[in-house]
Amino acid sequence: MNKPNYKTWIRTKAIALFSTLTAMSLLLLLLSFINILFLIFIIPAFIFSYILLIIGVSRWRFSKRGGDYQNKIHQLIVSRVEGERILDIGCGSGHLLAKIAKQHPKSELVGIDYWGDDWEYSKELCINNFKAENITNKVEFRKETASNLPDDLGAFDCVVSCLTFHEVQDVQDKTIPIYEALRHLKKGGKFIFLDLFQDPKYYPESKKIDQVIKSQNGIVTERVSLREIMGLPFPLEHKKVLGYAEMITGRIIDVDSSVS
Ligand SMILES: C[S@@+](CC[C@H](N)C(=O)[O-])C[C@H]1O[C@@H](n2cnc3c(N)ncnc32)[C@H](O)[C@@H]1O
Repeated sequence: MNKPNYKTWIRTKAIALFSTLTAMSLLLLLLSFINILFLIFIIPAFIFSYILLIIGVSRWRFSKRGGDYQNKIHQLIVSRVEGERILDIGCGSGHLLAKIAKQHPKSELVGIDYWGDDWEYSKELCINNFKAENITNKVEFRKETASNLPDDLGAFDCVVSCLTFHEVQDVQDKTIPIYEALRHLKKGGKFIFLDLFQDPKYYPESKKIDQVIKSQNGIVTERVSLREIMGLPFPLEHKKVLGYAEMITGRIIDVDSSVS
């Protein structure tokens, strides 16, 4: 029997790259020990070792043995999901959607992802994981970009997205995927988005997120940083990891019925 294969958010190739760079720079440092070059090599050796420490310990924290933080973060979303037709934007390996399926066995699920070369996830991986989990929900996985979701996806009772919007490379403005997600919600539908919404690099104007939500008749019912809601251990609280992560939950209001 196949076992599901859910990877953590830290890519193996990032660990491999920084392990190599750290090893090379430490070797050069050692070779230049009583030489003026020592001063030149000490800076990259320090930087690469530090990055390796952050991503290595993050990967461990996300895994079951290191505290299961990836699962705990997913559970924040799963516990808020409701409705019959649910969309996950940037579904990766299908991990979040599989948890939603178990909680809502009658729901119809759609997972979209761009599955670019950058990531170690794929549509096949999602399909195999669902088979391995014996999930019987009606489900469809589609390769789409979050910045331009096709109309034929239809409308959903609930749209979720976890740590995806800031990864969308084909648009500079990371509020465009938010707009696209909201566009696919039914009136009364619920959205649960978790992303680096507090990071000025991706979201220079926090107001713009609210404006986009409002433009789609959305109201925010909960907005909370990950640090506040669950507490993050080292190094997950680091700004380059999840220090800027925030969960925004809300609904699309039925303007017509609220006017009458
Ligand atoms: C940090 S992973 C999160 C995966 C998944 N949401 C989870 O919680 O396990 C980011 C995901 O964003 C996806 N992604 C990147 N650019 C995308 C795009 N333009 N459209 C849709 N998904 C994209 C990646 O393929 C990857 O699966």
